[in-house]
Amino acid sequence: MHESTAEPAVPAIALEPEPGAARDRESVRSDGGLDRALRRELALLDRAGLRRTLRPIERRPGGGARVVEDGRVLVDFASNDYLGLAADPRIAAAAANALREAAIGAGAARLISGNHPHHEALERELARFKGAPAALLFGSGYLANVGTIPALVGRRDVIYADALNHASLIDACRLSRAEVRVVPHADTDALARLLRADRATGFRRRLIVVDGVFSMDGDLAPLDRIVALAREHGAWTYVDDAHATGVLGATGGGSVEHWGAGVEGAVDVVMGTLGKALGVAGAFVTGSRTLIDYLVTRARAFVFTTGTPPAMAAAAVEALRIVQDEPARRRRVRAVAAQLRTRLAALGHPVAGAPDGHIIPVLIGPADRAMAAGAALRARGYLVGAVRPPTVPLGTSRLRITASAAHSDADIEGLVAAIADILPPRTAR
Ligand SMILES: Cc1ncc(COP(=O)(O)O)c(C=O)c1O
Repeated sequence: MHESTAEPAVPAIALEPEPGAARDRESVRSDGGLDRALRRELALLDRAGLRRTLRPIERRPGGGARVVEDGRVLVDFASNDYLGLAADPRIAAAAANALREAAIGAGAARLISGNHPHHEALERELARFKGAPAALLFGSGYLANVGTIPALVGRRDVIYADALNHASLIDACRLSRAEVRVVPHADTDALARLLRADRATGFRRRLIVVDGVFSMDGDLAPLDRIVALAREHGAWTYVDDAHATGVLGATGGGSVEHWGAGVEGAVDVVMGTLGKALGVAGAFVTGSRTLIDYLVTRARAFVFTTGTPPAMAAAAVEALRIVQDEPARRRRVRAVAAQLRTRLAALGHPVAGAPDGHIIPVLIGPADRAMAAGAALRARGYLVGAVRPPTVPLGTSRLRITASAAHSDADIEGLVAAIADILPPRTAR
């Protein structure tokens, strides 16, 4: 706003400093107490090859799997844009159209004054898409997890968490203050033993928490066995379907649809994201009407946060339409994944997970080698995630290649040639 408006200037209010506050602030500024401590830590992280920095990367409308970094076009094998929707002009148009009649900001938390019809329309569509009675939007997958899990379990309860669960699930479990049993990865015998051993311990509630598709390994949680064990032992189930939503199942419904009869209707809580295969941003939880009503009151990451911009919700409705109307995208991402996996195996880099799994980890080991491999691929025109601790366990740093429906056969061949160039088979573990 221009300064010469009729509004009188608001006088500055001088706050009384608390005793010692000025001195403390001064000491932080003058002797560098905070910065010095953090610089020391950053130097240690640097030395261990674990420091992270940001690089500007542009994704342009209609650009498919192409991104631009420092003016150079790179083929993106790093993002979670599995269906090639992040740059889809139809989704951008849905947001732009919504902005003609909806304000950019929700204005407040949805419970206060920020509940827009676009939010409610998206939740109706999401529930239908997931075959669930109801859905609730969250600002992100991270928030959905840290909002929902602590709302469901607490101090007198126990969580059974897969050892390779996503960081947001780990944080959610910690935040809940429930007892956490870490289950060896995908080991349902171990899960059964833990559930049995806890029978006599008197926990109020028991919750099994898993990724539907593991984000860094690409394999699937054995949901058929997990829901059977949950039923047998009176436990609830929570599936983080961030990487399955839109990709797995005949209509893209995710892990539950993929596993089908026996699992459908048997998972208590499913979290899905809108920022990966759906190409937008945000996340949601689906489940019973009662669960959603409860979360509206009790999930702090829903209650105490500003609503999603309504135009984003409108964009997500369009993304959902495309996901369901264009099953060829799902067939394509599977074909790309299968081709990548076959070609990498032929190079001597066996990759874990399903033969057409869309997350393709190439294990390297030491963090610095993985980072160097990522940088070498970038120099050759390919953006590939180089993943190191704490995202993955120590000594298991890797390239995380993601398949997308937007990749062409030439993209695949180009990446495989670049990998052959920089990563001789002997360096693969
Ligand atoms: C398994 C899993 N859960 C949750 C999240 C968080 O989702 P979001 O990026 O929407 O916060 C991610 C994404 O990084 C993920 O991989």
